[in-house]
Amino acid sequence: MYFEDKKNVIIMEHPLIKHKISLLRDEKTGTLEFRTLVEEIAMLEAYEALRDLPLADVEVKTPLETCMTPMIDGKKMAIVPILRAGLGMVSGVHALVPSAKVGHIGLYRDPETHEPHEYFCKLPEPIEQRMVLLVDPMLATGGSAAEAVDFIKERGGKHIKFMCILAAPEGLRKLSERHPDIEIYAGHMDRGLNENAYIVPGLGDAGDRIFGTK
Ligand code: PRP
Ligand code: URA
Repeated sequence: MYFEDKKNVIIMEHPLIKHKISLLRDEKTGTLEFRTLVEEIAMLEAYEALRDLPLADVEVKTPLETCMTPMIDGKKMAIVPILRAGLGMVSGVHALVPSAKVGHIGLYRDPETHEPHEYFCKLPEPIEQRMVLLVDPMLATGGSAAEAVDFIKERGGKHIKFMCILAAPEGLRKLSERHPDIEIYAGHMDRGLNENAYIVPGLGDAGDRIFGTK
């Protein structure tokens, strides 16, 4: 499903993703189960988002003969979580593409202004030669994701995809308008934001639920 008329925004429709997101929302879901679900949803979303992963032909000897056959060229990919909550999605994507390199972007949202603040950025080089999969479970106002894409572009990144689990329409609009050249994948689009810029109905604070803080 697309968002408004934006063909670069894809909202997942798979029943497995819907089911697992419902479990994530439940306030009774504990830290261990929450983390496992985030990993599983990331893997399912990545299956869709990585349809155009680069392949390279390699020589393989079957029991019958030798042939050239395509394999994923994982060295051409970077998984980049937005700290902290994005870390929870890395292992799910890495399980599919083990040779992908991992970069990190540290951003936190000011609790009053909801503006993102950077505290760390380290990307695998050369970033311009890699497909970058930027991951964060929550796209709320869209400020953090839009800023993270700015950092990647400033450092030369060109082929960028963003993947989240829950998105608010406000965040999808901001990110797709500021960066119309990237692909955006969301597990589900929720109703909107509350007065604290939290996604509703949402799942609460993703970082706290993944890491058991608060
Ligand atoms: C959360 C979330 C996103 C951001 C989304 O992180 O993981 O990074 O907020 O909000 P936005 O779309 O309005 O920018 P937070 O800043 O709470 O940091 P944390 O992951 O360290 O908890
Ligand atoms: N960050 C979260 O963890 N949850 C939200 O709903 C919004 C921002």
